[in-house]
Amino acid sequence: LHIIHVTAEMAPIAKVGGLGDVVTGLARACLLRGHTVDVMLPFYECIIKEQISDLTLITSYNSYHDGSWIPTNAYRGVVSGVAIILIQPTNHFFKGRNVYGGSYNELEAYLFFSRACLEWMQVTGTQPDIIHVHEWQTGALPLLYWDMYHSLSLKKPRIVLTIHNMEHFGECSKEQLDKCGLEGSIYASIDKAVDDRTLGHNPERLSLLKGGIVYSNAVVTVSPSYLKETLCSGWLSSALIKHRDKYIGILNGIDNTIWNPASDVFLPAKFHAQNFEGKKLCKYYVQKGLGLPTGAHVTDMTHKVPLVVCITRLVAQKGLHLIVHAIKRVEELGGQMIVLGKAPDAKVEREFEGLANSYNQGCSIRILLIYSEELSHMLYAAADMVLVPSMYEPCGLSQMIGMRYGAVPVVRKTGGLADTVFDMDDQPNHEMGNGTR
Ligand code: ADP
Ligand code: GLC
Repeated sequence: LHIIHVTAEMAPIAKVGGLGDVVTGLARACLLRGHTVDVMLPFYECIIKEQISDLTLITSYNSYHDGSWIPTNAYRGVVSGVAIILIQPTNHFFKGRNVYGGSYNELEAYLFFSRACLEWMQVTGTQPDIIHVHEWQTGALPLLYWDMYHSLSLKKPRIVLTIHNMEHFGECSKEQLDKCGLEGSIYASIDKAVDDRTLGHNPERLSLLKGGIVYSNAVVTVSPSYLKETLCSGWLSSALIKHRDKYIGILNGIDNTIWNPASDVFLPAKFHAQNFEGKKLCKYYVQKGLGLPTGAHVTDMTHKVPLVVCITRLVAQKGLHLIVHAIKRVEELGGQMIVLGKAPDAKVEREFEGLANSYNQGCSIRILLIYSEELSHMLYAAADMVLVPSMYEPCGLSQMIGMRYGAVPVVRKTGGLADTVFDMDDQPNHEMGNGTR
């Protein structure tokens, strides 16, 4: 099959969270099974070009936005063995220092991107079997496909939408949606599927994610437990119930080649399940590097102080108050803890900066308010425990990465965390236990 992913994130070139990891991992897994895979994403100004090989301009074409045609370039390249196509409009979209939060209208930019991807397929005669879209950012693509491209495409692709997080549903008005050139009739059909209590029957409150749910052939979410949760509550539950027959929960996995402590290029010492010596060294180097007390010697087995790490976007979903609580408790109990997190919200950032100022001088807690792929690998390798106290979690990858790096996950029992972490104490004979929840 020829599968094209259309996405806002891809690790490591444009990663904010797990969406980026999953797109790369899934693309690589399908490649290994013999399929042809392309990943289409915006050519963000901040994209990490050094991680792309063979970057080449392949197509220049015009793509529609708000009554005019924007000259647009498409580049080809390869990331972690996966073919990518980067869409670069010549206007201000996707300029800025971060993947999200630039000083352009994000909703309009992703509407443009969704249409520009279909236009690129049209212009180049590309005929995939499956178009796999992710999240609200590309939720308009199925609508656009059925509205204006279905009659033109020779080989009719099937469209799959994966919902990674229902909290963000791409709310927009009819005027905004108009900018990508959708025709009127489609609004009536979105409206029919819209949740009466929230977004429904009000053309000022449409949802791109809901449009994607209605117009995709299959809708996937990232764990069976999250599927159940989303059918019971949330903005889009009635739309999901209506489309239950095509809604599936498939548990995410991590890419065991990318996340492999036996070959991880970011680690000063490698290790695996049969030999943990390297893990001790990683812990020692991390403690040393961050000024935390260590054992007397690198391989000192007497240094039994447990190290807890928490690597996360600092947003309400992740249980911020529980992270703060854990910091206090770990200190009281004489352990060590490192938080690696980035807060998109200025208020949360200030709160954690305050905590960092008061704790970082001490000898047990470090709070690092940055995004660092390299450091995240080091911390998973150094950790004895990985904390994931999310209020809700569609799947969660950090608990799985923790397990892969020999760290015990400590999680709240919700969504994908409940599907992947099994409490030692709940298991007869402990044989299935792999963490605590
Ligand atoms: P989410 O997608 O909701 O953020 P996941 O657990 O699915 O949560 O995935 C988070 C991914 O982002 C993991 O690969 C994690 O290691 C990574 N990550 C989160 N915060 C940071 C950070 N500050 N620096 C580096 N990596 C991070
Ligand atoms: C989202 C979810 C997270 C999931 C990730 C990848 O960001 O918050 O739970 O693991 O997507 O699917």
